[in-house]
Parts: sequence; C-alpha cells; structure tokens
Amino acid sequence: MFDVIKSDLEQLEDKLLEAVTAPDDLVTEVGTHLVTSGGKRIRPALCLLSAHGGRAFDLAHTLPLATALELIHTASLVHDDVIDKADTRRGAPTANAKWDNKIAILAGDYIFARAFHLVTEGGYGDHVSGRLAWLVGNLSVGEIIQDKQMYKASRDEADYYDRIQKKTADFLEICCDLGARVGGMEPQEADALAQYGHDIGMAFQITDDLLDICETSEQIGKPVGNDIRQGIITLPVLRALHESDDRDELLAIVQNAQMTSDMVERALDIVKATDGIDFAKAKADEFLAHAKDVLPAALPSDIRDAYEQVADFIGDRDF
Ligand code: IPE
Ligand code: IPE
Ligand code: MG
Ligand code: MG
Repeated sequence: MFDVIKSDLEQLEDKLLEAVTAPDDLVTEVGTHLVTSGGKRIRPALCLLSAHGGRAFDLAHTLPLATALELIHTASLVHDDVIDKADTRRGAPTANAKWDNKIAILAGDYIFARAFHLVTEGGYGDHVSGRLAWLVGNLSVGEIIQDKQMYKASRDEADYYDRIQKKTADFLEICCDLGARVGGMEPQEADALAQYGHDIGMAFQITDDLLDICETSEQIGKPVGNDIRQGIITLPVLRALHESDDRDELLAIVQNAQMTSDMVERALDIVKATDGIDFAKAKADEFLAHAKDVLPAALPSDIRDAYEQVADFIGDRDF
C-alpha cells in the first residue's frame, strides 16, 4: 500500500528506536518493546505521503515530525491500555501486562516527551508544536469524556461521532495537514488533505469499533468485546439499542458495570442479529467516499493513488 514511501518508513523504524533509547536500561527496554511490536504506522505514513505531495519535500526535514506523530500515538496507546486494563496489543503483551501500570504510565510520559523533543529539534515553528500540544490534550479530553460516558447508554449518535473525532479523526487530520505544510503544499490543498484525514479518521475508528465486535483476538492482536465490557457504546450497539427486539436486555447488559463474559457474549449476539454492523459499515463507507472526493486534483498521480489505496484499506481492513 505504501510503495511511494516504503524506504521512508524503513528510516522511520530507525528513528523510532533511536528516540526511545534512553540513559536508563529499563526505559530503553520498555520503549524498544513498544516500538518493535508492530503497528500499521498509518499516522507517520499519512504525514510522509502528504509531505511528498508538496513542492518542497525533504525527507530529513519530515522524518522527525513523522516519528513524533507515531510516538504520540504509541504513548497514548500505552496509557489507553492501562485505562482499558488490556493485556495484549499488536499480538504482544502490553506494557502494563509485561511490567505494571506504574512502569507503563511513566514509559508513556517518557515517550510523549521524546516526541516533543524531536519536534523541537525539527524546528518546525510554533504552529506545529502548538497543534501537537493541542492534539495530546484533545486525546486526553476524548478519553475523559469516554470515561464519563461509560456504562451510560446515551443513545445519541452525535456523542459517538464527537468521541471518535477526538480519539482518531483529529489525529489523522493533523498528520495530513502538518505533513502537507512541512512539505510546502499550497494552503488550499493542505486544507483539502486535512479534510481527507478527518474523513478517513472517522471511518478508521468506526472500523476499529466493528472489529471489536466481529473479529477474534488472534486476528486483531488485542482483546475483542472489550468495548462492551468497558461500557463503551459504539455505533453498531447504538443502532441495536434502537432497532433490536431485545433492546431492553441489551440496554441492561451494556449499563451493567459488573457484566460477566456470558453477558458480553449475549450482547454481541443481540447486536449481530440486527443491521447494526451493516449500518456502521455504511457510515464508514460514506466517510471514505467523501474522503476520496475531497482529494485535491493537483496532487501527483502516484500520491493520489496512494491516498485512494489508504481509504480502500481502511474500508476493508481486518486488523
Ligand atoms: C489503534 O490505532 C487505536 C485507534 C485509534 C483505533 P491503530 O489501529 O492505528 O493501531 P496500530 O498502531 O496499528 O497498532
Ligand atoms: C484508542 O482507544 C486510544 C486513543 C485514541 C487514545 P481505544 O481504546 O478505542 O483503542 P484500542 O481498541 O484499545 O486500540
Ligand atoms: Mg483501548
Ligand atoms: Mg480505550
């Protein structure tokens, strides 16, 4: 999918490892575990692709930003796995499972700091560091809002979209936008790419929420059914709460903070018996179609093709 930036992404791996190499062995060990356990690298890939689309692309200048974006993502996942009490990620033990919550929280903080160090070294100016600081705050606000809404089956789709925007769409938007600006793209085209990033980000999170319902843990490398278990109401569940004949039973389960594994299974069966999955899939497809529509016409054709492939991948992904 990422042929245009294949060699850039190889260099990114080196930068990531370098960034988490610390004066302390344990910090280096945790950081290395985190950056070598895989991950789709979608955020740095979007940043690099966008930068390639500009008139002043310079890999050495773009790499610290792309690396910082992946580090911010990594740190937010490390903290998220503590919050979600998740024991696997990318098919490997999470930091909280392999070490403990304390180490995971501190390692996450360290990685956030390393990201901002790279951005400072990159010399991108106040606009870029300001946007990234805003992004980290926004991710935290998203997690806090989600926490407040836990086990509260607010049946409002607008709340759901607001939450996934903060968790994912704003992030992917910033990756495209900042990559484009650092690569010297015209502001109007960069704005269009920012819109593309927002749209594929919304679709990305809807798909992620679908995988939690439809896939196995082996397939996605992290626990499934975890959203319902954690009291997080996603789009297919919202739909089922409206449409299912068993909506009262579903409502009782998703609002029960003490739900058992059997109850999670039952809730998943109720959701799967409705059109909730297809409904969410159709919403994701709408966002993806819009994303492709807003791609600026002036983009070089190989970059444009890559953007279209990213959108297709998000629609079809099963991990
Ligand atoms: C996981 O993001 C968290 C979400 C916002 C859905 P990714 O699916 O990009 O995670 P990795 O980096 O590929 O593991
Ligand atoms: C992703 O949230 C974390 C952030 C965006 C901060 P989720 O809890 O939904 O993601 P997964 O399912 O653990 O990857
Ligand atoms: Mg999680
Ligand atoms: Mg979470």
